Amino acid sequence: MTKKAVCPGSFDPMTMGHLDIFTRASHLFDEVTVLVTGNPDKPSGLFTVEERVALIREVVPENIKVDFWSGLLVDYTSEHHIDTIVKGLRSSLDYEYELPMAQMNRRLTGVETTFLLTDEKYGYISSSLAKQVAQFGGDVTGLFPEPVHRAVVEKFA
Ligand code: PNS
Repeated sequence: MTKKAVCPGSFDPMTMGHLDIFTRASHLFDEVTVLVTGNPDKPSGLFTVEERVALIREVVPENIKVDFWSGLLVDYTSEHHIDTIVKGLRSSLDYEYELPMAQMNRRLTGVETTFLLTDEKYGYISSSLAKQVAQFGGDVTGLFPEPVHRAVVEKFA
């Protein structure tokens, strides 16, 4: 049976930490989809959903699918027969944030969430922190994959 996983998130934009999680997930599951999802707590972003999807497509290997979804995550996983949600954990703060979502999603449809520990190289990177540094002209080299880095620098130019 094909084991399918989804890596959902705002990805505004994707970072090196995200890329590491997508790649590692693709070694663990037969089929991985990166899903740009709506987060009602983050209504406006630096990049449009279309831009985020295009940047991810440019960066990830071809065996990783990329899609977007504006509804409930569990509706997407049910519709696409996806067994597992994959999320990265950088710290106990991430755990506190992720735990209720994982439990809610499991309660809704039984879908499981698998957590991968963020590589220590990327543990301090978040899209929001890196964007803030870029906004004020700081050096964000190495925080984003190259095409994303260029797009971020252009946005703030
Ligand atoms: O990168 P983020 O913003 O931390 O990702 C959170 C995200 C987008 C995965 C979460 O907000 C989500 O699942 N949104 C889809 C809507 C949904 O299913 N909400 C209920 C979550 S229990």
